[in-house]
Amino acid sequence: MQAAVTVPSVGITLDRFILRKQKTFPSATGDLSQVLRDIALAGKIINREINRFGLADITGDTATDNIQGEIQQKLDWIAHVRFIRALVNGGEVCGIISEEEAGIIDTGNPEGKYVIAMDPLDGSSNIDANVAIGTIFSVYRRVSPLGTSPTVEDFLQGGRQQVAAGYILYGSSTMLVYSTGCGVDGFTYEPTLGEYILSHPNLTFPAYSKTFSCNESNQRDFPPFVVQRIQEFYEQRFSSRYIGSFVADFHRNLIKGGIYLYPPTQTHIQGKLRLIYECYPMAFLAEQAGGKAIDGQQPILDIIPNRFHQRTPLYIGSSHLVDYFEIPS
Ligand code: AHG
Ligand code: MN
Ligand code: MN
Repeated sequence: MQAAVTVPSVGITLDRFILRKQKTFPSATGDLSQVLRDIALAGKIINREINRFGLADITGDTATDNIQGEIQQKLDWIAHVRFIRALVNGGEVCGIISEEEAGIIDTGNPEGKYVIAMDPLDGSSNIDANVAIGTIFSVYRRVSPLGTSPTVEDFLQGGRQQVAAGYILYGSSTMLVYSTGCGVDGFTYEPTLGEYILSHPNLTFPAYSKTFSCNESNQRDFPPFVVQRIQEFYEQRFSSRYIGSFVADFHRNLIKGGIYLYPPTQTHIQGKLRLIYECYPMAFLAEQAGGKAIDGQQPILDIIPNRFHQRTPLYIGSSHLVDYFEIPS
């Protein structure tokens, strides 16, 4: 008799993968699977907008500032709107917070069990230059009662309560990378099929690497211990690779090994990146991929949040490199 052939998972579609994973949890109702599908759909739509943005008149800055006071680019807003629309239509999510809006967005689905925090477009300063950008998302099970409107507490649960997190990278190809707490898997979008295909199962940071990513021109503002570590990197002939899109820098470091850091600076004394919708989800992925994420003193996921748009210093990536940035006591 012919031996059974084991079919490798690589090459299966995201939908099939989500279904297979769901079946390994007999108690799963499928609601989270639907949320992930809705996010994936939002990614396809944003991907389409990005790809055609050179043709349409949607490039450049809008006149308004977003709530961080940074110039808000049109594509940021378009991504924000498209993402919300996909989640509203999906029905499983009761509320959303976004980099692009100050407060809670009520989806009008009070029966939805989940809330989402998102950075709809990360790396926006790169949009006009056709450089890789991304979307970051984080999923929580709501703590407010079903059938009511979402509350602040739903979004301030802390990073360890995330039930799923991930990013969509709009790069030389578009990829969805996510985790539900059982490892990290990467899917490459095949535009002619309209499907995400599993291309990077069980992603982990390589054990060895000598790459760091940071805006080195800020060094004069960095805390002295950070400057010292960077000097040590120079002496050890590390490579410096900085795209200026967190998603893209993180992704490269996940594939090739490395660390991304955004320490406090004079203009951003608490760090620049946002805790809830940039750092928590990426820290969740980093830990799931065998890496680490800290603020210099504690794991990012252990920080107690107190407001939606708070910032934190961040050191994230391969464990052996993140360990360099624990503040000496
Ligand atoms: P966003 O586009 O969502 O505002 O995020 C930009 C972030 C991050 O993606 C990037 O790594 C960092 O800002 C770059 O900051 P600098 O230009 O200060 O280096
Ligand atoms: Mn961002
Ligand atoms: Mn953004």
